[in-house]
Parts: sequence; structure tokens; C-alpha cells
Amino acid sequence: MTATAPIAIIGTGIAGLSAAQALHAAGQQVQLFDKSRGSGGRMASKRSDAGALDLGAQYFTARDRRFVEVVQQWQARGWVAEWTPSLYHFKDGRLSASPDEQVRWVGSPRMSAITRAMLGALPVHFSCRITEVFRGEQHWSLQDAEGQSHGPFSHVVIATPAPQASALLAAAPKLAGAAASVAMEPTWAVALAFAAPLETKVEGCFVQDSPIDWVARNRSKPGRDRLMDTWVVHASSAWSKQHLDMPKEAVIEHLHGAFAELIGCAVPAPAFSLAHRWLYARPASSHQWGALADADLGLYACGDWCLSGRVEGAWLSGQDVARKLLEHLQ
Ligand code: FAD
Ligand code: NAI
Repeated sequence: MTATAPIAIIGTGIAGLSAAQALHAAGQQVQLFDKSRGSGGRMASKRSDAGALDLGAQYFTARDRRFVEVVQQWQARGWVAEWTPSLYHFKDGRLSASPDEQVRWVGSPRMSAITRAMLGALPVHFSCRITEVFRGEQHWSLQDAEGQSHGPFSHVVIATPAPQASALLAAAPKLAGAAASVAMEPTWAVALAFAAPLETKVEGCFVQDSPIDWVARNRSKPGRDRLMDTWVVHASSAWSKQHLDMPKEAVIEHLHGAFAELIGCAVPAPAFSLAHRWLYARPASSHQWGALADADLGLYACGDWCLSGRVEGAWLSGQDVARKLLEHLQ
């Protein structure tokens, strides 16, 4: 059965787009909204003087059979490529090679390519922050931060991080309560670009006992700009929480220092640097919810926080929300 009006989806991260694709494929009309200027959310890439940078998700793994299959399709279409970095581990002050057999994927030529391709020609309003989701007699309407209303919609799918979802789920207090119970932790991300390549073999490094928890060499990813030797450094959740309001220049200085200590070669001042704070980077724990649904009301929520807090979890949650919604339409 087709819904009586389009289905609104708030959020064009991978969860919202996974839901949108599944609903569209089932013959439903969807309308997407995002507060940002483009799609991707935490899989977005930032354009900079040092080329496009993946400041959020660095790579992803595929373990669930359904996700493995879809990633293979994305690979065949050229949206993703395998990343085989020379991996290291930094622990107890020591840097050591840490190779493994895990298959890791990245968007090609940048992380945002995936959601850009998934969005295709689906209708979307960007730069549109939804502040309220309310139900009239038969249909749903949305209000944005500019005071404009959008609708009518038959159903609403909220595909934002949990703290942003709980406010939008007010019409379904049980769902709002579940979303409000999910704590999400921040991550400070810093990009450091060097004019001459650093003399190290490291291309990715899992870090412990440091303000940093992850380091990646951008040029080692397939299809990336090689103008400069650009690194993305992620602070740990604990350090990010402790330094949440630190000015960006100071964050760059601290993480540049910590990076120089662990990387094991001379590190000059960067030719270019930037910092980005992800306030809701990852859920503090994982859940087995799949997606949240109040099917009688027609209000739904999905996102990485409903499952594993990873790209795969977000995609699976989007599939689950679409399945739940379509089941109720039959
Ligand atoms: P999001 O990507 O957050 O999408 C939500 C969207 O909703 C956003 O586009 C946002 O703009 C929009 N939105 C929010 N509120 C509103 C509103 N009121 N109105 C309109 N739009 C709104 N995962 C991995 O698998 N591997 C990794 O290596 C990895 N590294 C990471 C590193 C960092 C620093 C971060 C931040 C995340 C990382 N992740 C990683 C996690 C991964 O990025 C997420 O699990 C996944 O991208 C979440 O997708 P999502 O669609 O659930 O949410
Ligand atoms: P994965 O299997 O590569 O990594 C999972 C974890 O296993 C790593 O965090 C690391 O601790 C360990 N590990 C894996 N390979 C290793 C190796 N060769 N040497 C040493 N340790 C190794 O990928 P998966 O399971 O898909 O996880 C996604 C990654 O995304 C994780 O690293 C996670 O920390 C990161 N992430 C970061 C977020 C942030 O906000 N910074 C948010 C969500 C995920």
C-alpha cells in the first residue's frame, strides 16, 4: 500500500538515507530534511586548502551479511574502495606495526561520496533545521528554525543523533525517553597538513594512553588529493569531554604535540591545520533496538545509536525503520 502523503525523513546521514532508499524502492514518496548544507552527517567530508578531508568516520567494516552485500554493490558502482593502510598501534609509549586481515572500506574519492550517491535525485531541503514535529488530525507537519512549516506527511522518520532526536520525538513520550537515555560522547578532530611528507610508514594508528585515540594519513586512502601530506587526528572521548570548550587553536596545538610524540619521526609545524568538534560523535554504549517505532502514531527514529554506533549500525538501523514502517502500511 502507498502512504496517503509523503514520508518525512529528518537527517541525511547514512541512517536517514538508508531508510529513504528502502522506502523509495518500495514505491513510497519521501521528503528529506537536513540542517547542514549537504548530506553525510558524521560521514561528511570537509573541503579545505589541503583538499577534501574525512573528519568524521574514517573507514568502515561490514560484518552483517546484508551490509556486506550492499557495500559490494557500492564498490561495483565506484562509490567505495577498499583501504589497506599500513596499520600501527601505539601503547605504553611504544609504536609498533599492527597488521591484520580486516577488510576496511572508505568512500571514493571521499567519504561523502557515499551519501551523495545514495541521495541521488530524492527530494531534500538542506540548511533546514527542524525544531518541531507535530500531528494534526490526520497528518504530520514539521516546523523549521526559520518558522516555516512543512507538510502534510503521513509518517515521520527522525534520523538524527539521539540527543537531537529526543526533542523531536515529544509526540511519542516512550520513544523520546528511550532517545534521551542514550548518552553520546564528543570527539575533537584535527587535520594537520605538512608541505613535505613525514618520514614514517604509518598510515593508520590505533592509540592508547594518549589524548589521541586514532591517526590516519589521508593520502593513503584511495583517490585522495596528494598535494600535501595531510593527517586526521582524533582525540579520545575522555580528552574531548575534558576539553569540550577549549578554543580550536589550543586543541590543534595540544593534539599536534601529542601526534609528534607518538609518530616516531620529526614533525614540523603544519602548513595548514583545522579543528572540528563533534559534539555527538558516538553513543556511550550500543543497543539492540534496531529502530524505534510508534506505528500507530506513525512516528519513527533510527540512527547508529539504535545499534552499534558505527556506519554499519546506522545503515542497518535505517533498513530496520523502513521495514517497520512498510509492515504497518500493509
Ligand atoms: P549522522 O551521520 O549524525 O546524521 C544525522 C543527520 O541529521 C546529520 O546530517 C545532521 O545534520 C542532521 N540533523 C540533526 N538534527 C537535525 C535537525 N534538527 N533538523 C534537520 N537535520 C538534523 N564509524 C565507523 O564505522 N568507523 C569509523 O571509523 C568511525 N569513525 C568516526 C569518527 C568520528 C570523529 C565520528 C564523529 C564518527 C565516527 N564513526 C565511525 C561513526 C559514524 O560516523 C556514525 O555511526 C554514522 O555516520 C552515523 O550515521 P547517522 O545517520 O546515524 O547519523
Ligand atoms: P575495526 O575492526 O578496525 O576496529 C575496532 C577496534 O579494534 C579498534 O578501535 C581498535 O581498538 C581495535 N583494532 C582493530 N584493528 C586493530 C589493529 N590492527 N591493531 C590494533 N587494534 C586494532 O573497525 P570497527 O569495528 O568497524 O570500528 C570502527 C572504528 O571507528 C573503531 O576504531 C571506533 O573506535 C571508531 N569510531 C570512532 C568514533 C569517534 O567518535 N571517534 C565513533 C564511532 C566509531
